[in-house]
Amino acid sequence: MDRILVTGGTGYIGSHTVVELQQAGYPVVIIDDLSNSNREVIDGIERITGIRPDFVEGDCTDMQTLSKLFADYPDIKGIINFAASKAVGESMHKPILYYRNNLNTLLNLLDLMGPNGVKGIVFSSSCTVYGEPDENPVTEKAPIKKATSPYGNTKQISEEIITDVINAGAPFKSVILRYFNPVGAHPSAEIGELPNGVPQNLIPYLTQTAIGIRQELSVFGNDYDTPDGSCIRDYINVVDLAKAHVIAVKRMLENKSDAKIEIFNLGTGNGVSVLELINVFEEATGVKVPHKIVGRRAGDIEKVWANPTYANEVLGWKATSTLADTMRSAWAWQLKLRERGVM
Ligand SMILES: NC(=O)c1ccc[n+]([C@@H]2O[C@H](COP(=O)([O-])OP(=O)(O)OC[C@H]3O[C@@H](n4cnc5c(N)ncnc54)[C@H](O)[C@@H]3O)[C@@H](O)[C@H]2O)c1
Repeated sequence: MDRILVTGGTGYIGSHTVVELQQAGYPVVIIDDLSNSNREVIDGIERITGIRPDFVEGDCTDMQTLSKLFADYPDIKGIINFAASKAVGESMHKPILYYRNNLNTLLNLLDLMGPNGVKGIVFSSSCTVYGEPDENPVTEKAPIKKATSPYGNTKQISEEIITDVINAGAPFKSVILRYFNPVGAHPSAEIGELPNGVPQNLIPYLTQTAIGIRQELSVFGNDYDTPDGSCIRDYINVVDLAKAHVIAVKRMLENKSDAKIEIFNLGTGNGVSVLELINVFEEATGVKVPHKIVGRRAGDIEKVWANPTYANEVLGWKATSTLADTMRSAWAWQLKLRERGVM
């Protein structure tokens, strides 16, 4: 079968996607610079699938590294590009890092695809492109709002770059996936979310608080125009999310659509507030999460959740996990990390 290059494949969503790709029969090669992950993730993937994915430690902004990778793996026919810096807050302080890393990675890949016979690229975009939407749930037709952070802007610019390159006649296709809020871990607890340093995302911070590594979880604002005053998001199980990538890759490589570029929202369709999410976690696991309400955080969107109908109908994909099961999976992963002495 055609080989898939997974950039950022030892990261959170990437690792879950590698598992699903391998289980669907695709050979995979990962490239990751380990800036926000570690090589033990490969052991976890191997324990789940029985297959050790090929791994290249390298930086996708380095054209020479990527050129060598394509020369070493002439059977690469599809790319899933997860490699990016992704912390919204950090991007406010380090915009050059974000623009350089996220955009140069994409440009290099697009540049090398044609000459190396790659048929398609799946790109990780985000619901951040919708900003504060005028109405929820959000469809793919909702207007793109001016980005509120350099990170968000890299996603908007990346979507434009892909569109321009394909409209200019590039010999490949692209599927752009706009994720809502990925959460949870693989049900085996062999892989999960483990960012380097203090987590910037809610769930790893929440589970690290529940286990006593962090003292208290801060809930940013309870005075929003929502039923309980906290922000509302669409929390999508990471394995459900990963499965959509396999469908997208297959769609491009097997020419299942005439469109050269397609965009899909990946969410559940349910808006859940931060306080509700804490409750679901506590009820599902029986573990309390010490938390306090603090002021609003600059740049946070009040409420956003997906209308996933287009992905449901066109891709035949649907998020099926319950939020309670997803929270239990996140907790099982945190317990596994303690058992292994990682944290
Ligand atoms: N997690 C979310 O909430 C979320 C939401 C929407 C979109 N996304 C996007 O999905 C993608 C994956 O996110 P994630 O949560 O798995 O993040 P992650 O940080 O866990 O994974 C990204 C991986 O890319 C690697 N990487 C970064 N720059 C690289 C480079 N130049 N060369 C090689 N490797 C590099 C990191 O080491 C990391 O392993 C990112 O593009 C992110 O912007 C994530």
